Amino acid sequence: MDLKTHWQKDSWQNSPAAQQVAWPDQELYQGTLGQIVKLPPLVFAGEIRRLKKEIAKAQEGQSFVLQGGDCAEEFARCTAKDIRETLKVILQMAAVLSFAGEKPIIKIGRIAGQYAKPRSSPTEMIEGKEYPSYRGDIVNGPEATDEARRPDANRLLQAYFHAATTLNILRGFTKGGFASLERVHAWNNEFVSQSKEGKSYEKLAQEIDKALAFIKVIGLGDERALQEVDFYTSHEALLLGYESALTRQDSQAGEFFGHWYDCSAHMLWIGDRTRQLDGGHVEFLRGVGNPIGMKIGPKHDLDEIKRIIERLNPTNEPGRMTLITRFGSQKIKDQLPNVLREIKREGFKVLWSCDPMHGNTFVSGKFKTRNFVDILSEIGSFFLINRAEGTVPGGIHFELTGEAVTECIGGADRIEEHQLALNYATSCDPRLNGQQSLDIAFMIAHLLKH
Ligand code: PEP
Ligand code: CO
Repeated sequence: MDLKTHWQKDSWQNSPAAQQVAWPDQELYQGTLGQIVKLPPLVFAGEIRRLKKEIAKAQEGQSFVLQGGDCAEEFARCTAKDIRETLKVILQMAAVLSFAGEKPIIKIGRIAGQYAKPRSSPTEMIEGKEYPSYRGDIVNGPEATDEARRPDANRLLQAYFHAATTLNILRGFTKGGFASLERVHAWNNEFVSQSKEGKSYEKLAQEIDKALAFIKVIGLGDERALQEVDFYTSHEALLLGYESALTRQDSQAGEFFGHWYDCSAHMLWIGDRTRQLDGGHVEFLRGVGNPIGMKIGPKHDLDEIKRIIERLNPTNEPGRMTLITRFGSQKIKDQLPNVLREIKREGFKVLWSCDPMHGNTFVSGKFKTRNFVDILSEIGSFFLINRAEGTVPGGIHFELTGEAVTECIGGADRIEEHQLALNYATSCDPRLNGQQSLDIAFMIAHLLKH
């Protein structure tokens, strides 16, 4: 059977799809999707294809992908300040990685649409009472009340508009001068600047200044390249009704006319819990032309992974597939070598990216947390093992925020388990704060160079 000819933007409905929502008001759900279908796409096909080309270069080791942002974005945090702080820390990390690591950096946010969360259990216990799980702001609210936890289809439309607003300000920041390399100092935020990482960053920013001055003197600077930044968006393609409502055909005359793209974000990824070979998520994603990420955790079946790659990328198109491994700091040592070897042996073109977050989560008291040391260790192993196998360590995937949160333990200011409550702000998984993120960027820069 030629699978491609049978793909339609809603053909996923004929396959079982994990982690979908039982919307209590079906009429409202269908009506809301009907509204989204008519609204403009959030991103353009041309941008999506540009990112795919960029990822193809990273697959060859010519550049490096930095992907990061919240575990779950919240509508209430859709403010200029929150978005700017997240963007700033990613720009800072990218400056460190490109200047100290000597590689162009492709910047992709977990942002402007990262509103849906897969959950291991349909309910959770909060202070002795059982509630339906929080499934991300696109579904229900994080507050511990039955009312807040009831899925509300109005939230789908709210997600669309919050994503649009976020994208709008991101485009303003990245094309309107804020992200200009000449402002590299200004990205250092208040809480980070006094720390050891902040000071190392300042030193590096001074060197960037000198390099820029030199480039200008000799007349080599391309104004646009210095002033503007390409910043891409991504999220987990979880709720297939929402994703397919934003799936559109390229209407520009030319080679790609009529091709389908999921225009909710530039890159979509398929989660570790929803990547069943015959499931709805694989069926949906195989028909859209976006770059696709796939998470691979310790319980994977390598044969299934291979079959999924074949289905998502039957022509072995460069830039299409990013494999994001999230084994944990110990299991990566046993599992990654074989995965790299087998995928390489099959000749699949993929970008290898490391998510050092999701395999290193544990519970301390009432908080989910991660230890900075485990995160560093997984990244270190990722580079080492790729080099040993002759594959390219091409990207990194973080949950982070520019804010001074206390969600992951360790790091330069040595956050301890009893300090987690000081500023534990995430509604889902624990994120690296600005200082911890910058610290890691310096370490990766070192690994990139050696
Ligand atoms: C995530 O990236 O937030 C996530 C849920 O990851 P995974 O699918 O790898 O568990
Ligand atoms: Co997460």
